[in-house]
Amino acid sequence: MSGSLVKPVYPRLRCQNGGTDDSAPYYRRDLALVHHLGFAFHANETAPGIMALLEPLLTRNGLVVELGCGSGLLTRHLIDAGHRVIATDASPAMLELAREVAADAEDIRLLVLPDDPIPPADAIVSVGHVLNYLPDEAAIDRALVAIADALAPGGILAIDLCDFGYGEARREAPNLGRVTDDWAIVTEFSRPSRGRFIRQMAIFSLNDDGSWRRDDERHDNVLIDVSRVPALLAGRGIQSTIGSSFGAERLPAGLRTVIGHRTDG
Ligand SMILES: C[S@@+](CC[C@H](N)C(=O)[O-])C[C@H]1O[C@@H](n2cnc3c(N)ncnc32)[C@H](O)[C@@H]1O
Repeated sequence: MSGSLVKPVYPRLRCQNGGTDDSAPYYRRDLALVHHLGFAFHANETAPGIMALLEPLLTRNGLVVELGCGSGLLTRHLIDAGHRVIATDASPAMLELAREVAADAEDIRLLVLPDDPIPPADAIVSVGHVLNYLPDEAAIDRALVAIADALAPGGILAIDLCDFGYGEARREAPNLGRVTDDWAIVTEFSRPSRGRFIRQMAIFSLNDDGSWRRDDERHDNVLIDVSRVPALLAGRGIQSTIGSSFGAERLPAGLRTVIGHRTDG
């Protein structure tokens, strides 16, 4: 899907909580808005495949829990397809945007993986390698177990995760810069080890008086061997497969999908 969903809301989207979430490690006010405005493609491209996977839920009015919903881009698709959604994220600034983009969600709430309780759900979805933001592999495993345990009988799982191959494909990745009239971002990539991928970002945002402000964020992603995830989930009653897409979309190299369902209960 194109950016048609988000474009009409551009002018009124503003993070109002200037500075109140400065302690948040990831996606403070300025990067949250830049992600929403400039990086919607992943949620939009994965949406059709996820909607097809979740279609069986519609007849039983099942509840979808979204983890790491960001600014609510995929949430919007889910609601428009007729799903009941609880959208969650660790970033207060992202949630503030999601409350505008997906105001008609069942709930939009702070949920920090891996230890905040996940509401029981008929489907759990997550795109944008949310689990790779956790501090280490043990935390990712804890989150996967919590996700599995929150899935109701017959429940559906659809998430994406960065494999070791994600870092390998970007070993020589050049720095990236994007400039618009209202914001700019410069990203430096590094891969200090096989299991780590780092984005160091400088984010520039236009103030109302025409001056510019700068924020810096460093995102540490933990890369894993995604092929071991089905065995972990099987131990919690979830049958799953690893793939390279949710549907017909083409995902970046090293980003893998985990699609499954609860077979017991
Ligand atoms: C790359 S963004 C993807 C956002 C959204 N799903 C999308 O595709 O546009 C990763 C998201 O994961 C969230 N996140 C990072 N660490 C998290 C954690 N420990 N618990 C929950 N969400 C987290 C971030 O706040 C951010 O919104």
